[in-house]
Amino acid sequence: MKKTAIVTGGATGIGRATAEWLARDGMNIVIGDINMAGAEDTVKSIVDTTDSDALAIRTDVGEPQEVKRLIDTAVDRFERIDVLINCAADLSQLPTDMDVVGTDLAVFDRTYQVNFRGAVVGCKYAIPEMVKTGGGSIVNVSSATSLQGDKERVAYSSLKAATNQLTRSIAVRFGKDNIRCNTVCPGLILNNDATLHPPEVMKAEFLEAVATPELGISSNAAELIGFLASDRAQYITGELISIDGGFTKRVPYYFSLKGPE
Ligand SMILES: NC(=O)c1ccc[n+]([C@@H]2O[C@H](COP(=O)([O-])OP(=O)(O)OC[C@H]3O[C@@H](n4cnc5c(N)ncnc54)[C@H](O)[C@@H]3O)[C@@H](O)[C@H]2O)c1
Repeated sequence: MKKTAIVTGGATGIGRATAEWLARDGMNIVIGDINMAGAEDTVKSIVDTTDSDALAIRTDVGEPQEVKRLIDTAVDRFERIDVLINCAADLSQLPTDMDVVGTDLAVFDRTYQVNFRGAVVGCKYAIPEMVKTGGGSIVNVSSATSLQGDKERVAYSSLKAATNQLTRSIAVRFGKDNIRCNTVCPGLILNNDATLHPPEVMKAEFLEAVATPELGISSNAAELIGFLASDRAQYITGELISIDGGFTKRVPYYFSLKGPE
């Protein structure tokens, strides 16, 4: 019997690339997203190019009952849940997500409901289903900004950091039930099809900041997330793994003892 993977935020970007990766790896896919046109497009691409089945369920992960319906529908259709990828995030909050003094509490509330509680609720309802069929694997998509201080994005970074801790909690509590849980922390990741490229000036600054020749794209993140979700990663749990071209590994300033060139 094929495995089943639920991917929230699978309509575009990293979630879509991950859904396609998991389908190529032989899993049936259930996408939960508010962008139904994008989600249906992901389903079509999976059905057209792989041997896996896929369906999309309109799901606002900020609404717990909708997440419950997503899980229940997946079980009704495919009889099991083996993988949960918590990738959905309300990125529309970012332009008004500044510092703790200047950010409206409504931004904290919505970021909490979607980006953190959405993952909590997904785990809450998916884990009992995984236990019934002998285990599973959860990957939470966090961010490089959860690892360091950032002058802006206080709500986004704080709640991604909460997600990092959720991962550890699940890993130690449910490990003996054969459930693994890991976090990936992407740095700047461009869309595969370049439709959501950030402004050129931002790309240029990030290219300067990473250690790699190029910036990452969604399929790079999908390779890591897919591997962690698969049985090949059976001894990896509770980890936070960066995929950021070394962005978070460099010293913040450089001083040469050789003196000026
Ligand atoms: N791309 C990056 O540079 C980057 C960096 C760090 C972290 N991330 C994280 O990666 C994940 C994917 O981001 P992306 O860059 O691929 O962006 P994206 O906008 O392509 O994907 C986000 C997805 O979440 C969906 N979504 C938004 N609100 C939702 C809701 N309430 N319920 C269900 N679905 C909802 C969107 O429709 C979209 O399909 C996010 O968790 C994001 O925080 C991305």
